[in-house]
Amino acid sequence: MPENIDISPPQRHEPERQYFYIAKLKELVKAETEKLGRPLRAAIITFGCQMNARDSEKLAGILIAAGFAMTEDENADFVLYNTCTVRDHANQRVYGRLGKLNHYKKKNPRMKIALCGCMMQEDTVIHKIKASYPFVDLIFGTHNIFKFAELLARMLITDETVIDIWQETDQIVEDLPTERKYPFKSGINIMFGCNNFCTYCIVPYVRGRERSRPAEDIINEVKRLAADGVVEIMLLGQNVNSYGLTDSVNFPALLREIEKIDGIKRIRFMTSHPKDLSADLIQVMKDSKKICRHIHLPLQSGSTRILAAMNRGYTKADYLGLITRIRQAMPDIAITTDIIVGFPGETAADVDETIDVVEKVKFDNAFTFLYSKRTGTPAAILPDQVPAAQAKQSFDRLLKAVQETARLGNGRLVGEACPVLVEEINAQDPAMLDGRLANNTMVHFPGNADLIGRIVDVKLTQACGFYYRGQIGQDSVSYND
Ligand code: SAH
Ligand code: SF4
Ligand code: F3S
Repeated sequence: MPENIDISPPQRHEPERQYFYIAKLKELVKAETEKLGRPLRAAIITFGCQMNARDSEKLAGILIAAGFAMTEDENADFVLYNTCTVRDHANQRVYGRLGKLNHYKKKNPRMKIALCGCMMQEDTVIHKIKASYPFVDLIFGTHNIFKFAELLARMLITDETVIDIWQETDQIVEDLPTERKYPFKSGINIMFGCNNFCTYCIVPYVRGRERSRPAEDIINEVKRLAADGVVEIMLLGQNVNSYGLTDSVNFPALLREIEKIDGIKRIRFMTSHPKDLSADLIQVMKDSKKICRHIHLPLQSGSTRILAAMNRGYTKADYLGLITRIRQAMPDIAITTDIIVGFPGETAADVDETIDVVEKVKFDNAFTFLYSKRTGTPAAILPDQVPAAQAKQSFDRLLKAVQETARLGNGRLVGEACPVLVEEINAQDPAMLDGRLANNTMVHFPGNADLIGRIVDVKLTQACGFYYRGQIGQDSVSYND
């Protein structure tokens, strides 16, 4: 990299400061591109949840603005892993893949490797990377992700390892570039962090305290997206139901405002915490023409005793009551959930309680996880950790119940023509398209690529487990017109 690039004190305010560094990066990337006679290629690999996926779009926006050519090939000039640490399995995947990256780097010494995301907020991880993966060039965390351009510029100019991890932040930096993965749908952060401290969960420690974005900023972003062709938005937060800086702009009020924005056809949100799901939210969903008839409502456990130990803030009866109220208001709603098996102290009787909820609610889908001990969380030091064999047995029992009850609901829409947002060409069969119903179920049907991004009526002809096959009708309506 050229050494004579001016890096004199930039603007103090954000996001101007980052735009200064993006301009610097552009000079660096241009010089290197000319030297090599080919574009500099960058890859971002995302682990974890929708929040991380959205962050990766922002990171990609900066790389593209700097002049990198994005690729999915990890054998690139710059590779960034945006990591997750919610379960140990996620961490192990990162370590495993870093070995492969080192192999590429030996062949291409110009290659730079960067790590960011939730894993990087853990001291033990940073120590391990310093000790065992010294070939990593840049590490930053979740709180200073907005400084990516600055940190990358510093790494390229100094050619030294840059590690910058913040413990907390109250900053929300708006208006940095982003690159959407899909032109027609987008995630939108409405809040960051989490205050709930479920005893098994590491997210509050690695994402910090809950911060809501001002409603005005969210609404302006949705308007900009709608003007840019986005028809479906997903409002993102660890607990969207506690969104709100003031009582007048709580989550239902925000949804009412977003509903008014022309061009937006579908509104989704993720994730709802049962303890904060209000009657007002149910009413807003019921009245809305745009909010999708789908709610993801993590149960975690059906045992009131375990729920208390998890610090979830509701009982089995509370959860079942909530489901009843939601279904009374919206009988056609799809309900999905997350469940953890093997939480410390969990007995077969507790698992029976969870299975009882599964059988009563008949979730459309349930994501089941084996409890993973996260250092630093209260549950990690509870005395009666469940032996792996017992947890696995409970897991299998639960999975069977989930599959049996979900099957009952599968196929209930066969014969109906339903609006489908066309998302992409099917990976296996290029004559087929993949799209989603408002309730989030996948539909495969024959059609061609110019329908991508449109909402069309598809007659559902066959139920195949968790997806449908269908056919676009002769008189198919396109809802985008
Ligand atoms: N904020 C969301 C979930 C975030 S994490 C919520 O409260 O619902 C996504 C899911 O990962 C959780 O719902 C939980 O089921 C699971 N999870 C979180 N910590 C876990 C752990 N230590 N072991 C196993 N699963 C966990
Ligand atoms: Fe984790 Fe609970 Fe916060 Fe969800 S609500 S992110 S499970 S602490
Ligand atoms: Fe993972 Fe962080 Fe999301 S720990 S689940 S990527 S908030």
